[in-house]
Amino acid sequence: MPRLIASLGLAAGILASTSAWAVEISISCSALGKEYEICKQGVDAWAKRTGNTVKIVSTPNSATERLALYQQLLAAGASDIDVFQIDVVWTGILADHLMDLTAKGQADIDDHLPAMVETSRVNGKLMAMPWFADAGLLYYRQDLLDKYKRPVPQTWADLTETARMIQDGERKDGRGDFWGYVWQGRAYEGLTTNALEWVASFGGGAIVDDKGEITIENPKATEALKAAAGWVGTITPEGVLNYTEEESRGVFQAGNAAFMRNWPYAWALAQGADSTIKGKVGIAPLPKGGADGRHAGTLGGQLLAVSKYSKNADAATDLVLYLTSQQEQKRRAVEGSFNPTIVALYSDADIARANPFIGDLVDVFTNAVARPATVTGQNYNKVSTEFFNAVHQVLSKRAEPAQALNRLDRDLKRIKRDGWK
Ligand code: GLC
Repeated sequence: MPRLIASLGLAAGILASTSAWAVEISISCSALGKEYEICKQGVDAWAKRTGNTVKIVSTPNSATERLALYQQLLAAGASDIDVFQIDVVWTGILADHLMDLTAKGQADIDDHLPAMVETSRVNGKLMAMPWFADAGLLYYRQDLLDKYKRPVPQTWADLTETARMIQDGERKDGRGDFWGYVWQGRAYEGLTTNALEWVASFGGGAIVDDKGEITIENPKATEALKAAAGWVGTITPEGVLNYTEEESRGVFQAGNAAFMRNWPYAWALAQGADSTIKGKVGIAPLPKGGADGRHAGTLGGQLLAVSKYSKNADAATDLVLYLTSQQEQKRRAVEGSFNPTIVALYSDADIARANPFIGDLVDVFTNAVARPATVTGQNYNKVSTEFFNAVHQVLSKRAEPAQALNRLDRDLKRIKRDGWK
């Protein structure tokens, strides 16, 4: 009996010490489509392995609103969130509030795509771990291209013509709410990614070049914006001026658009059991600006970082390493079509089966156009905000493209006055 009591006492002691050690980690995960559910499965698996608990903090869908929320929390030194899901373009902006993961991430970092590793480093230090890679893609309705006997558009002029033809035809068939092309036109970071694709595809550069020179005021960029402004109200609903990713996916997935620009996550949802367009969708590179233009998809993606103000930095770092591991990236790719950042997973048969486009569009991902986040450092959000506001004015016909770009050039020069960083 005494022995039993002693062993019960021992067991209770172990339990007590486990729970004293076990911690609660909070993580911000975005919730586009299935993102929340897939994040939850990942953190629950880690919690089970470690005995810790994890709380998910939901964040706004708009990247720009999310950044503002993070900046507010971090500026106050708040320890409410231990692990932040951060956009590839925010590392420089948030670095002062993040833990240096160089030592802990060292063993794994070389397994990741170099472009994504670059977005995770600031002044040579690893401030985040790559989680998934994004690139802008063209989604099309294969059934409608077949019906109207049209090929997948190669240039924006082709897309404009084909979108128009399908839209006219579908509307004649009584589908008054059918549109040719939907994308992200709200004045937020997503518009920067869309407009950069138009500009780069016409050969108009990437707003600011690698040396920090402002290049956006040029005839190719003007031409690109003119083309995009021409879509609004013709092949694209005026409402697009307030669309983020999810609003455009809503229209496309309801079967009400021929083409959509979006990130890879929309694939798993379009192919979902309850999708009205399941089996009818294809993905291609976004069109070229013209015969001498190029296919251009903006490089996007998300990283995981640990807050400098976390009270449980070791456990938080362990969670980051678990979520960004090969096993977890594979699960996310198969279930949610989140492109891995680990190079080896690009030859994984299960991932290729679930997402045929990943293999077919290797060029889109390897040649994705980077936003000028590294070169403009802490100023990136200001640069992007000026850019998307200027583009939004053109799209809503409040400014002519050349005039808007001239003003933008002047505003960017003002931001750069004391150098970028
Ligand atoms: C996606 C991309 C991100 C981009 C954002 C714009 O979340 O991963 O890089 O900034 O969309 O809306």
